[in-house]
Amino acid sequence: MSRTWGITQAVDLAEAQQRMTAMMSIPLPPVPNVKLLKPVQVRAQIVHVRAAGAYRELALHAPGVGVDARPGQFVTLGVGGESSALLLRRAFALSGVDGNVVSVVVAAHGPGTRWILERGAGDVMDLIGPLGRPFPEPPPGGAALLVAGGYGAAPFVGLAQRLNAAGHAVAAVLGAATADRLYAVHDLAPLTQVVSVTTEDGSAGRTGRVTDVLPELLPGASAVYACGPMPMLRAVAAQAAACGLPCHVSVEEAMACGIGVCMTCVLPVIGDDGTSAFVRSCVDGPVFDAAKVRFDDIGRLPGDLHGAGAMRANT
Ligand SMILES: Cc1cc2nc3c(=O)[nH]c(=O)nc-3n(C[C@H](O)[C@H](O)[C@H](O)COP(=O)(O)OP(=O)(O)OC[C@H]3O[C@@H](n4cnc5c(N)ncnc54)[C@H](O)[C@@H]3O)c2cc1C
Ligand code: FES
Repeated sequence: MSRTWGITQAVDLAEAQQRMTAMMSIPLPPVPNVKLLKPVQVRAQIVHVRAAGAYRELALHAPGVGVDARPGQFVTLGVGGESSALLLRRAFALSGVDGNVVSVVVAAHGPGTRWILERGAGDVMDLIGPLGRPFPEPPPGGAALLVAGGYGAAPFVGLAQRLNAAGHAVAAVLGAATADRLYAVHDLAPLTQVVSVTTEDGSAGRTGRVTDVLPELLPGASAVYACGPMPMLRAVAAQAAACGLPCHVSVEEAMACGIGVCMTCVLPVIGDDGTSAFVRSCVDGPVFDAAKVRFDDIGRLPGDLHGAGAMRANT
C-alpha cells in the first residue's frame, strides 16, 4: 500500500540535497498548535497483512480514521474477541494512511499483540483513532533529523513525506538490536538525503546504537524527531539539547484507556509556567517537546511536581 497521508508531490532529491546544505543553520520557528478532529470508533476489516522483518504490517479498512490523521498519532485496537478477558485496548502508531485504509506495524510482545498477529485478511477488529497529538510540522526552511529505534520508525515515512512537501530536507537514523527489527529503511530511502542504519549485533549497517551516529548528523540538522524506547529518547534528547536543537519525542508509555480518562499513561512534564505536572501521554502526547520531559523522574513522584503532596497523602 502506498502511504500518502494526502501528499502526492514528487521529491527532487538533488534539489532537496542542495536545500539541506543551504538550510543547515536556519533554526525552525515555533510550531503552531494543531487543531485535531475527534477520533472515531469503527469496525475495521483487515485488508492485508504483510511481513516486515520481525514485525507485521496490517492494513485496515477504517472509514473516517485517516481523514485528518497526522504522523505521530496512534490508534487503539480491541483485542481477544468479544468474550475475552483482555479488557484493555492496545495502542499502535499509525504507519500509513491511504484514503479509508490505515496501516499499523505490530511487534509480538504479550497476549494482546500475539492475538493481533494471528489475525488475517477479512478479519474485523474494533479500532479507535486517530488519537493523541502528532509531530509538529514547522514551516518550510529547515533540515529535519528523524531518529528511530525498531518499529519506532512507523510514523516516519508519513512524516518524511510531509516534511519534504513542506520544503524541508530530511535525514534519518534507524537503529535496532538486529537487522530484522529495523523498520522502513527502504521506504525512507527515497524520502531522505541520508539514511544511516545501526544494529547492536552488526547484522546491518554500522555496529552500535543510533546515538553513535548522531554526532555526525546533528550539526546539519535544525530539528530532531525521535521515536523508540524511552532510554533511546532520553539519550537522543540530551544530544539534541547539547547542540541547541529542538527535539520532538514520541513516548510509548503504558496505556489503559487511550482517551485521557484513567491517568495510567502520565509522565512528568515542565509546563509553560515553569512548574511541572503529570501529563497524560495519550491526549497531551504521545509527542512532546523533549526539553520539557523530565526523563530522570519518569516512574517517580518528584516532590516539586504540582499536586505531589496530595498524591503522596493518597498512597
Ligand atoms: C502511543 C503508542 C504507540 C505504540 N506503537 C506501537 C507500534 O507501532 N507497534 C507496536 O508493536 N507496538 C506499539 N506500541 C506498544 C504496544 O501498545 C504494546 O506492545 C502492547 O500494548 C502490548 O500488549 P500485549 O498484550 O501484547 O502485551 P502485555 O505486556 O500483556 O500488555 C498489557 C498492557 O501493558 C501495556 N503495555 C505493555 N507493553 C507496552 C509497551 N511497550 N508500550 C505501551 N504499553 C505497553 C499496555 O497498556 C497493555 O494494555 C505502542 C504503544 C503506545 C503507547
Ligand atoms: S491511557 Fe488513560 S489517561 Fe492516558
